[in-house]
Amino acid sequence: MASAEKYIEQRLNERRIVGSYRILKPENNLIDFCSNDYLGFSRSSALKNKINEEINSNHLVLNGATGSRLISGNLNYTEELEKEIAKLFNSEAGLLFNSGYDANLGLLSSLPQRGDTIITDELIHASIIDGARLSHANRYTFKHNDIAGLEAKLKQAKGNCYVVIESVYSMDGDSPPIIELLDITEKYGAHLIVDEAHAVGLYKTGIITRLKLEKRVFARIVTFGKALGCHGAVVLGNNLLREYLINFARSFIYTTAAPLHQLASIKMACILLHKSAEEITALQNNINLFKQMLTASKTYPLINSESPIQCILLKSNEWAKKTAMHLQDNGLDVRAILSPTVAQGSERIRICLHAFNTVNDLELLTNTINNLLYAG
Ligand SMILES: Cc1ncc(COP(=O)(O)O)c(C=O)c1O
Repeated sequence: MASAEKYIEQRLNERRIVGSYRILKPENNLIDFCSNDYLGFSRSSALKNKINEEINSNHLVLNGATGSRLISGNLNYTEELEKEIAKLFNSEAGLLFNSGYDANLGLLSSLPQRGDTIITDELIHASIIDGARLSHANRYTFKHNDIAGLEAKLKQAKGNCYVVIESVYSMDGDSPPIIELLDITEKYGAHLIVDEAHAVGLYKTGIITRLKLEKRVFARIVTFGKALGCHGAVVLGNNLLREYLINFARSFIYTTAAPLHQLASIKMACILLHKSAEEITALQNNINLFKQMLTASKTYPLINSESPIQCILLKSNEWAKKTAMHLQDNGLDVRAILSPTVAQGSERIRICLHAFNTVNDLELLTNTINNLLYAG
């Protein structure tokens, strides 16, 4: 009989050899250029106070939800919150999931059936890939943001067809031509699903509300662990979709519901989002400033992005790791993104900008990168 330990060691060694071995980094005091806390909600003491007030004033006494939503974990508070979130995001209905991973897994694994088709952008998030894998539907990918590529796949689609994109891509930070992708999706009678994980916050309630496409998009996924600074996610769609997910989405059905503290955090973060014009402007200013200051991007290109996610392409695991380590040594928390997480030749450092980063922070960051990369 083969030994499990031997297999584990062999796989870990393979990772070490190709330079993609993962470790959990300890907490540090470096300047944050890697978290998803774009607007600073996670570190906001004002938000923390509001969450505590909400818990106390609503007599939210349960520490845990006590069970799944279909057994004992469904409270009036939860259903009211779903209605408030749906209203905020201009959707007929919404269903909360414990995380964005769970939301995508539940939606993509339960809705498309054998004989149906799922078409995703090649850079789609792992949670969507995993959901699609569990679905038994036919799966295709198209070249990143490529309308003709999508159309070619739509022509081959069978059964009900779902096209899945992100409105801001998590690894590249860029946005797709959503209206054109939607037009072509509709031309073939397919349904567009948009993951707004990284768009909510920068664009307040996301790009779909900004473009007023709510009625044309079949479903949206909004996560609360990024710009909203807490945890959890909602699938937005019509009432029929909500009922379907309650009946068939296994990552919704077979898990303990979110604790009340999580729900109160989501509620208060959504209220704060309404009043966050100042933070959104500060974030936007920092994005513009960063791009102006990063002169070394002439040598090492930045991926074209208007979002807080800015990537410098270094094109090898070695260079990406070396650059990230150099930045960390200079007090900057920047992480390398290596292959196979991204395609070989597109290894990079991924910088996440925030509303709370100061001009000094940005100067230190860009000067350090400029000096290193010019030196080559
Ligand atoms: C595009 C996208 N969708 C979904 C998720 C998963 O969300 P969560 O972190 O809430 O599980 C992520 C997080 O990495 C993401 O980037």
